[in-house]
Amino acid sequence: MNNKIYRIFAGTPGLLEHSFNVAFFVRQIIDAMPDGLVSTTQAQDLIFAAMYHDVGKSTWHGEWFTAPRHQIRNVDWTIMQTHPIQSVNILNEIGIPITEGTKKYILEHHERPGKMGYPNNIEPDFYSQIISAADIFCACTEPRSYRPYPLDTGQALREVVKYAPEMIVDALKFVAKKIA
Ligand SMILES: [Fe+2]
Ligand SMILES: [Fe+2]
Repeated sequence: MNNKIYRIFAGTPGLLEHSFNVAFFVRQIIDAMPDGLVSTTQAQDLIFAAMYHDVGKSTWHGEWFTAPRHQIRNVDWTIMQTHPIQSVNILNEIGIPITEGTKKYILEHHERPGKMGYPNNIEPDFYSQIISAADIFCACTEPRSYRPYPLDTGQALREVVKYAPEMIVDALKFVAKKIA
C-alpha cells in the first residue's frame, strides 16, 4: 500500500470510516441484485471506486467538513463540488493505478439523473448509481458535526429514493433490512 494514501486517510476527517461504509454497502447491493447484472470486473471497479471516491476531500479546508451548507460560501461550494475530479487526480499523482471503470464511477458519484448533479452535470451510468446510492445512504446514517443526529434507516432510504433507480433502491432496502 502506498504511504501517501495512508496519510490522506489519516489526515481527512471521517474519510476512512465513510469509504469503508460505502464499499461495504456497494458490495452488499451488488450481491442483492439479480445474478449476472454486475460482472466480476464491474464489481471490482465499483469496490475500488467506493474506497477512493472521496480522497479528493483531502484538499478541503477543515471548516468545510463541519459547516452546514448555508454557512459555506458559494465560491467554496463550487470548489468542494470538484472533489470527484480531485480524487482521480490524486490517485494519478500518488501512483495508484485505476481502471477506466473505476475512474468513471468516482467521477460520477455525485452526478444525478436529469443531469442534476456535479461536477459535470451529466447523466450518470447505471453502475455509477450503485455508488451514489450507497454514498447517500452512508452520508445520511453516519455522524456529521453539522447536524445533531444521523438519519435513521427509513429517512436515509427516502433520500436515496429521490435519485436512485428502482432496482438499486430495492437492493439497498433488502440490505438495510438484513443488517438492521
Ligand atoms: Fe463525494
Ligand atoms: Fe462519499
